Amino acid sequence: MSKELTDLSTHYGFGENWSAFVDQLNDTAIDEAVRGFRRLLTAEEIAGRHMLDLGCGSGLHSLAALRLGAGQVTAIDIDPVSVVTTQRLLGRLHPNGRWSVKALSVFETSRMPQYDVVYSWGVLHHTGDMIRAIKMAADRVAPRGLLCVALYRRTPSCWAWRIEKRIYTGSPQWVRRLIEAIYVAAFRLALALKRRSFGDYVDEYVRRRGMNWMTDVRDWLGGYPYESISKAEVVRLAGDLGFVPVRNFCGKQSLALLGSGCDEYVFRRA
Ligand SMILES: C[S@@+](CC[C@H](N)C(=O)[O-])C[C@H]1O[C@@H](n2cnc3c(N)ncnc32)[C@H](O)[C@@H]1O
Repeated sequence: MSKELTDLSTHYGFGENWSAFVDQLNDTAIDEAVRGFRRLLTAEEIAGRHMLDLGCGSGLHSLAALRLGAGQVTAIDIDPVSVVTTQRLLGRLHPNGRWSVKALSVFETSRMPQYDVVYSWGVLHHTGDMIRAIKMAADRVAPRGLLCVALYRRTPSCWAWRIEKRIYTGSPQWVRRLIEAIYVAAFRLALALKRRSFGDYVDEYVRRRGMNWMTDVRDWLGGYPYESISKAEVVRLAGDLGFVPVRNFCGKQSLALLGSGCDEYVFRRA
């Protein structure tokens, strides 16, 4: 395995960004995570199942799965801070559940068992080798099991964002704050051109998602390594790996000048 893929110094530290956020987590953020989870997987698809949360981050989706009746959750993340954050979250809000968390890269999962559901939200495009990461994730799905992934949508601006993220991740704090200030200024300008209030936007964001807007902005600006993929490519790759589409939620194509989003896919192993 190339060093780049396991060398955390070249990766953005998501865990650090979330560590403080998780202590202030409110019911709105948890409800929003549960709602997002329910949209992707039906009650029947998750109840009683053993799920692998691959790239668990804050642990919010592992918590949502447990709240929706998952029989067992195994959560892994390459970032030790994410691992501790997930342990803290589940230990506090689901202390008696059947779950375990460990520090592991997707590229080190070949000896793990197979799972009813492999869930990887917003992760595989941050590994440094997305296609191999998708294949490794797919390998962990049991026969007739589900592969549930969210991947950055391919847009015309992806190349520019890749450069920005690389600079941000390799920069000292003052440069990061400067990049954030430029982004926030551009965002405010875009809203002003649409005659919308920035304050109202941020308040609404927090009210609706229970997430701190700036935490999400830092995740976007820093999320490196970074790749993206079109729906056609994902469906073709999944087909080659022996999976059939169950459902997907794909956003509209845009220039993505202020950032893009993830497309969500559920496949079943044929
Ligand atoms: C954008 S976050 C998403 C976290 C979580 N799935 C969520 O939806 O909130 C990406 C996560 O992927 C993790 N990650 C990146 N590369 C990884 C790898 N090779 N193996 C496992 N996790 C990885 C990061 O540490 C980070 O926690």
